[in-house]
Amino acid sequence: MNPRSCSRGEEGRREQGSGAARIGWLVRALAVALALAVLAPPAVRADDVPSTAAATAPAAAFSGDAAYQHVQQLAETIGSRPTGTEREAEAADYLAGVLSSYGYQTEAQPFPITMYEERSATVATLAPRGAPMETSALVYSAAGDVSGELVDAGYGRDGDWAPGALAGRVALVERGEITFSDKVANVAAAGATAVIIFNNRDGAYTGNLTAASPIPAVTLSGTDGQALRERLQNGPVRVAVVVDAETTTRQSRNVIGVRPGRVPGAIVVGGHFDSVPAGPGANDNASGTATVLELARYFAQRDYPYTLYFVAFGAEEIGLRGSRHFVDTLPESARASLRAMINLDMVGVGDQERFSGAAELVDLASQVADATGFADYTTNASSAGGGSDHASFDRAGVPVLFIYRSNDPNYHSPRDRAEFVDPDALALAGRVAIGVLERLAAETQ
Ligand code: BES
Ligand code: ZN
Repeated sequence: MNPRSCSRGEEGRREQGSGAARIGWLVRALAVALALAVLAPPAVRADDVPSTAAATAPAAAFSGDAAYQHVQQLAETIGSRPTGTEREAEAADYLAGVLSSYGYQTEAQPFPITMYEERSATVATLAPRGAPMETSALVYSAAGDVSGELVDAGYGRDGDWAPGALAGRVALVERGEITFSDKVANVAAAGATAVIIFNNRDGAYTGNLTAASPIPAVTLSGTDGQALRERLQNGPVRVAVVVDAETTTRQSRNVIGVRPGRVPGAIVVGGHFDSVPAGPGANDNASGTATVLELARYFAQRDYPYTLYFVAFGAEEIGLRGSRHFVDTLPESARASLRAMINLDMVGVGDQERFSGAAELVDLASQVADATGFADYTTNASSAGGGSDHASFDRAGVPVLFIYRSNDPNYHSPRDRAEFVDPDALALAGRVAIGVLERLAAETQ
């Protein structure tokens, strides 16, 4: 932790592209069409090369208010954008339209996502009759409506039961020692028709299987699981396990705008645009997406040595899927050319700006913050954590900078609305990203 405060302000430079620069732009835009063909097959959207109007308009400074309008568009006009839904796709169209209006060659990069949708799960004792217990299906559990005699199956280890020994019965298994999937496979092989895995601590939990299970598999708190185990000491217990759930394959997409550089090396500036189903995702993460768009506008008309990828990632909220797809499908030569990835996620709410990630990038961000002059920031150069899209790049060995704010009281809730997003906070995040990009560029000049 390294809190600092400063006071001097710095505005973005105003420049006008020269005719030669415009021709260079066109040539590079053609090169980008080729690069994108490699990067993101199959293309579902390809827009025009930069228009003359865009190339001759004055290059304005980064505007927090302009970014805020994108937040309103995403979080109010479109609204909640859960992964794989129509509204995520609508948001992608909006982003692609904005990026192409700035003159970027823009691509939607689609990818399939497998989603497990649990509609309901219940566990109840039928005899002796008891109240339903709090439960959830393990992700990828089979659906089903099963009742049978409960059997204490320990940890559900391989070889504990002969094949068929649990036929027609429901296995009660304790969490721990081996994976959920192995427990399910072992008791199913012994003939169990459903499995209840109770926590090895008091409370409830949720968990994932690695693949679809052959029988319904649900969770139970440690307290409820131990109570069932004790009841089994006093005689037979009949239970009902019901799981109503479905695994579906849908499509999500990243939206990519590329600006080719004049020297080798590339930088990704990105943020996710999907939201959780619970709310409109204004801070998480229309704020970061909007800042990426305004950065794209800022750089569209400025000279920059490296190739810039402006990327809005889909499917972040179900596990960083869009950024992982982007990284996994990047040709090795393009991946090796990445000098940095700057991730903007939740940059519009909270008192304090935060920078984490690769030490050299966190240091550059701190230099910019010191020179730009804003109230407060903290840094963490040891780890950026695994909770957002930078992690996909970090895993692939790309230096990352994660710009964010924490302690949003409306995180993942219906109250994550545009009215709570501060345009000035977007401007600060944008200016830090610009300063870092300019300092990275200065290393080549
Ligand atoms: N925007 C959050 C990550 C975040 C949290 C950024 C707090 C800044 C401050 C992200 O959308 C999210 O919710 N991530 C999940 C994990 C992810 C792998 C689904 C999380 O942090 O729990
Ligand atoms: Zn989130």
